[in-house]
Amino acid sequence: MTDTAALGTTNLDPTVPLLSVKGMAVSFAVGSRLAARIKNEQRFLRAVDGVDLDLGRGEALALVGESGSGKSTFALALAGLRPPDRGEIRFNERMLPRHRSREDQRRIQMVFQDPYSSLNPRLTVGSMLRELIRVHHIVPLGQADEYCKELLTLVGLGPDAMKAFPRQFSGGQRQRVAIARALVLRPDVLVADEPVSALDVSVQATVLNLLRDLRAELGLTLLLISHNLAVVRHLCDRVAVMYLGRIVEVAPTGQLFSDPKHPYTKGLLAAIPKLAASPPGADDQGPAVIGDPPSPLRLPVGCRFRTRCPIAQQICEELDPQLTTGASDTGHQAACHFAFGGYAPGLQSPASFSAAVTDATGNQGD
Ligand SMILES: Nc1ncnc2c1ncn2[C@@H]1O[C@H](COP(=O)(O)OP(=O)(O)OP(=O)(O)O)[C@@H](O)[C@H]1O
Ligand code: SF4
Ligand SMILES: [Mg+2]
Repeated sequence: MTDTAALGTTNLDPTVPLLSVKGMAVSFAVGSRLAARIKNEQRFLRAVDGVDLDLGRGEALALVGESGSGKSTFALALAGLRPPDRGEIRFNERMLPRHRSREDQRRIQMVFQDPYSSLNPRLTVGSMLRELIRVHHIVPLGQADEYCKELLTLVGLGPDAMKAFPRQFSGGQRQRVAIARALVLRPDVLVADEPVSALDVSVQATVLNLLRDLRAELGLTLLLISHNLAVVRHLCDRVAVMYLGRIVEVAPTGQLFSDPKHPYTKGLLAAIPKLAASPPGADDQGPAVIGDPPSPLRLPVGCRFRTRCPIAQQICEELDPQLTTGASDTGHQAACHFAFGGYAPGLQSPASFSAAVTDATGNQGD
């Protein structure tokens, strides 16, 4: 086995999720107690508010949702960079402790949106990689240079990158350095948080293709956070949709695009009507999500999407819908009272769903 081949995931039982998150919550204290009382707001902003999510071994899972929905906070907690307030994270069935060992930290690595701020500007790429190898005992120090050069070639930079500083690279090359920095630790899971959104459009595809190739070559498990649903559709096996700190829908990618169940997902897909394969009578006629999300400091009672939902009913104010699976159990879950077969009272069909959407917004939205 070559060094780079050894970067891949150990072959373990494929029926057990590699990562399993249950009830994760992360909150931030915001402002003073007095200000919160005057504004009738909570003082703790619940950025992640009870998330359950599994990642299969070797799977590419996308996490999508509007800005502020909690994607990055979830990713940081998953990678052990921000301790959750509650919930558990299991790696291969073993609970990860709140303060992770170096070995557990190594297993889940992140690639951030801005490669420059995630790299130490004072270290050459070679020094940075060698230091990580030394601290984490990845290979004997005598083999470190050879291992680094092989890795830099794998990410499309070549051995000469060893001597260069981060400022000497273009944006796309710097993101390749950041990917090498994550991979040098031989992680099992790579969490990529908007890895190309800070890059020129011209180089975005090359970095995404690199991630796709690395995943195939190294057997990596990938959590990809992206605003770009076209990217997600191209790269990922499953998609999880996040809204105000909760997962509101999870499905295999094909199903999510062809038969979305949650009104929020329908709205997100309607913003790209040509991309969405049209479920009968729904997506092509639905609008993008209307209005702004409510303040996370004043979450609506009941369904948190109800203030923007075109088919909200009385029950939505009273009951907080949980993530549930449809009767056919195809791995498709949604958190909406009317997701699987049930339409809101008075809305008998998908076509009348579209009509309700139109009434609510005054336009067809596409
Ligand atoms: N350090 C922090 N202190 C206080 N609030 C925070 C902090 N980090 C994030 N938040 C808040 O938590 C919520 C979720 O933020 P987060 O960055 O996780 O969202 P996101 O989905 O990654 O958004 P984006 O798509 O813009 O990156 C937001 O309301 C944000 O303002
Ligand atoms: S539960 Fe009600 S408000 Fe929430 S998404 Fe479903 S229909 Fe809309
Ligand atoms: Mg983010």
